Amino acid sequence: MAEEEQQDANGGVLTRGDAEGVTPQGTAKDSLSVTDNRTGEQYEVEITDGTVKAMDFRQMKVDEDDFGLMAYDPAFTNTAHCRSDITYIDGEAGVLEYRGYPIAQLCEESTYLEVANLLIYGELPTQEQLDEWIFEITHHTFVHENIKKFVEGFRYDAHPMGMLLATVGALSTFYPDAINIDDQTERHMAGVRMIAKMPTLAAFAYRHNLGLPYIYPDNDLGYPGNFLSMMYKMTETRYEPDPRLERALDVLWILHADHEQNCSTAAVRSVGSSQVDPYSAVAAGVAALYGPLHGGANEQVLRMLERIETTDNIPDFLEGVKNREEKLMGFGHRVYKNYDPRAEIIKKHVDEVFEVTGKNPKLDIAVELEKRALDDDYFAERKLYPNVDFYSGLIYEALQLPKDMFTVMFAIPRTSGWVAQWLEMTQDEETKIARPRQVYSGARERDYQQVANREQKVDPPTGAGATTVIDPAAGGDPAGVGAV
Ligand code: ACO
Repeated sequence: MAEEEQQDANGGVLTRGDAEGVTPQGTAKDSLSVTDNRTGEQYEVEITDGTVKAMDFRQMKVDEDDFGLMAYDPAFTNTAHCRSDITYIDGEAGVLEYRGYPIAQLCEESTYLEVANLLIYGELPTQEQLDEWIFEITHHTFVHENIKKFVEGFRYDAHPMGMLLATVGALSTFYPDAINIDDQTERHMAGVRMIAKMPTLAAFAYRHNLGLPYIYPDNDLGYPGNFLSMMYKMTETRYEPDPRLERALDVLWILHADHEQNCSTAAVRSVGSSQVDPYSAVAAGVAALYGPLHGGANEQVLRMLERIETTDNIPDFLEGVKNREEKLMGFGHRVYKNYDPRAEIIKKHVDEVFEVTGKNPKLDIAVELEKRALDDDYFAERKLYPNVDFYSGLIYEALQLPKDMFTVMFAIPRTSGWVAQWLEMTQDEETKIARPRQVYSGARERDYQQVANREQKVDPPTGAGATTVIDPAAGGDPAGVGAV
């Protein structure tokens, strides 16, 4: 038997041999037998933790000059890009655990700041550790006065997620030592600062949109209470948050704290893998969360409920969804193919919030919409259930938050998850700069044509050429800005 065993680039074992060398099917062995029908070669690829190493396939070539096989996986639908000890999800069973603790138990027993500590450090803190952690977070809630000026510079109607994205990125310029990512103290401080300052930045963005003065943090209040104060305080000497709203917000924030390798977390890890400072890496997470298919979905759910208007219009709306005219926002998930456990917990808290704020009339539309969708074969066949965003927007609206703020309300708690994932990545010996491959499908080896010899091959995009060019000579551009 001709057999050759080699160490692959990632340290995995790849055995290459002829037909007789392949382990017969049915024997219990943690490996995968592969026949490359292009060459007739047979390979045995090691299986570890239910995965094969994509690099093992690189050894499978048609000849020596061949680059080797790659895995093609747009959107990483079946690719684990890291090992992680932080969050466990079983999408089929609807299970979510942080560091092994079931989400429902944490929502019942814990607080957001304790959960943030658990996510980052891996164990529930002792009372002393928790007190110190809360003290640290509380005493880093203020931002440099120049950040305030920076926020003032945005247009009055700037989207708060855009403002948050920019201000989080800007934090890196206020803490330049954060680039020392090998320094444990710097890493810790960056995490503390981001968790502490995110509510301040979010509240400043909100007040900016309203043209109201920014409210400084109140260190005598708890984490959610201080946020409510920075959002809603007016002329009163002291803002007194309603404990029921504080608790509801805290639970919402526990639910949103982490969700393993979602789009924004993958962005944080991917950008962080270049060894940039953590503020810049987390700014990438904020950017990813902004999108309507991710954190932006809660905003879209409310816009959708508004369009539906009354329960009578639900059948027509669902027909439109089934005809692919639009999506049922707040439904479906890449991982959960069962009820999102977070949606179930939020639904329970909706009534508590409405006790304080009065009922949001859109709740009836949401409940009926969920019922009808769950009874419909289209959604059942595709395993589409409500996700975390289906009900969270109703709570935010009850808190009188404009829809633009909904995704910001997601970014505040997700910061602890991004920080935990970033810290884990920096400590992982397997971390390398993220650099996916591509399947190149474009033209090759074309001769450059002089401009005079070219034919138009590409149609201009619709609306191109509509740029207004102001002619200063005609006195139309006093500021001299030219095209605007
Ligand atoms: N409404 C209608 N149909 C849907 C929906 C939906 N919300 N979600 C998925 N489908 C359909 C798709 O059209 C597809 O149907 P097909 O197989 O007949 O073509 C099938 O269900 C599978 O959907 P995919 O798009 O392949 O699922 P994927 O895992 O790529 O997408 C996603 C997941 C983006 C969340 C999707 O379900 C979606 O767009 N949902 C609405 C937006 C939303 O609520 N996002 C929040 C997610 S939670 C979070 O980020 C915190």
